[in-house]
Amino acid sequence: MPKVVFLDQGLRGELPGGTTALDAAHRLGARISSICGGAGTCSTCRVECVVNPEHLSPIEPNEIAFDMGPGVRLGCQARILGDVGLRIVKIPRAVLS
Ligand code: FES
Repeated sequence: MPKVVFLDQGLRGELPGGTTALDAAHRLGARISSICGGAGTCSTCRVECVVNPEHLSPIEPNEIAFDMGPGVRLGCQARILGDVGLRIVKIPRAVLS
């Protein structure tokens, strides 16, 4: 089973291959947003894969639409296929005036 480490939260574990990064975060107790419940439409579940990004499933078309920058994936779309090191990407709060 792949080893998964959330580097920014000091959490690690081994999970079945094919687990999404969002499910991995939930199972290991990491704090992550998921407003759309994993439908791939809100982009609040962003993770940065800083170790072995090639061990995530290929980028899905809806991820490209969000233009999240290099190494950043939607946690609900990226499946873990091998050992990875992840960071949760914090979304800045909107300030309405
Ligand atoms: S939980 Fe909404 S896009 Fe991933």
